Amino acid sequence: MNRIEQTIRDWKCSGEGTTRRVFVVTDTNVDRLVMPLFAEAAPSIAEAERIVISPGEDNKNIRTVESVWRRLMSAEATRNDLLVNVGGGMVSDLGGFAAATFKRGMPYANIATTLLAAADASVGGKTGVNFGGVKNAVGAFAMPLGTEVCYEAFSTLSREEILSGYGEILKMSLVASPESLVSIARAEDNIADLERLGDFARESARLKMAIVDKDPKETGLRKTLNFGHTFGHAFESLALERGHCVAHGIAVAYGIVTALVLSRMLCGFPSELLYFVAKEVVRPYFGSVGMTCSDYPELLAFMHNDKKNSDSGSIRFVLLEDAGRPVCDVSVPDDDVKAALDICRDLLS
Ligand SMILES: NC(=O)c1ccc[n+]([C@@H]2O[C@H](COP(=O)([O-])OP(=O)(O)OC[C@H]3O[C@@H](n4cnc5c(N)ncnc54)[C@H](O)[C@@H]3O)[C@@H](O)[C@H]2O)c1
Ligand SMILES: [Zn+2]
Repeated sequence: MNRIEQTIRDWKCSGEGTTRRVFVVTDTNVDRLVMPLFAEAAPSIAEAERIVISPGEDNKNIRTVESVWRRLMSAEATRNDLLVNVGGGMVSDLGGFAAATFKRGMPYANIATTLLAAADASVGGKTGVNFGGVKNAVGAFAMPLGTEVCYEAFSTLSREEILSGYGEILKMSLVASPESLVSIARAEDNIADLERLGDFARESARLKMAIVDKDPKETGLRKTLNFGHTFGHAFESLALERGHCVAHGIAVAYGIVTALVLSRMLCGFPSELLYFVAKEVVRPYFGSVGMTCSDYPELLAFMHNDKKNSDSGSIRFVLLEDAGRPVCDVSVPDDDVKAALDICRDLLS
């Protein structure tokens, strides 16, 4: 934890001349479960003015942003101050957006308390909230001063939350770091070791930033970070419609297997690696994907409706020629998508 205090002190002194005042945005769960960890070890966080918001996607909206702006305003926060988001991806997306817009932008930084935020959500500068029923419909690109991983906090995450982050780590490894796949595959050992999870998350975040630096506004290369997400979002939406939530990164793990099947069919992705990922990583830890062929029309409809991936009649995917060799915008006809879903179900059964 001392490393976190040290980093905050660096952030506080990063302004010109003055030491920044620190405002913390967190949610009620993190406030209860994680904040006590900072009491002695990170006084810069523990003693800062704390803005506690309600947790969850339902509260990731402009009303909650307003409540943050209001608190900043009444405390006379300025562009020389610093807002630190302590929490998961919901907190860093929302707090980042509040900071990006308050007085035309005050600096902010993140302390990630979920594996998903540490590996993915709290790096890369995409901030925002849900609006009009659409996820992340309103937002801004705004880079944090930095992101610290609070792996000590992972101890209070559910196995589902850990797996959700692990799905994104697996994605990053397939897209940009094939040499890490073997160690990622030892999921059970890794999941039990919070510090090691922290290291994996930091490595994923580093790989993500290397891509984001080259393409901050997602005009090309950054799209490769969507690998597994076209199917993943469709699985998430289907589950939501059926009234049971599936964690984002878990849906992405199933999406990864389906996208690897398509990659095998259309881009020559090696079959041994496809089997390795499906049978050694996803099947044993993430379990089987709960769908039957009667779900295909709906899954296809979700994918076609997603403007990001759909053009005249076919769905566009990020696929892999091999681990570490992504290809963007591969148009795939529905029949191939259905065949990939069939094989994915078989592999994960
Ligand atoms: N900006 C990006 O690039 C990006 C990328 C991926 C996801 N996201 C966003 O991230 C969000 C999902 O991230 P998330 O899964 O971290 O969600 P989250 O922030 O909603 O956290 C999930 C739950 O865990 C709780 N929590 C947080 N830390 C905890 C801890 N240490 N112990 C116990 N409980 C804890 C939270 O209160 C919440 O109830 C979504 O809103 C998504 O849109 C953003
Ligand atoms: Zn994701």
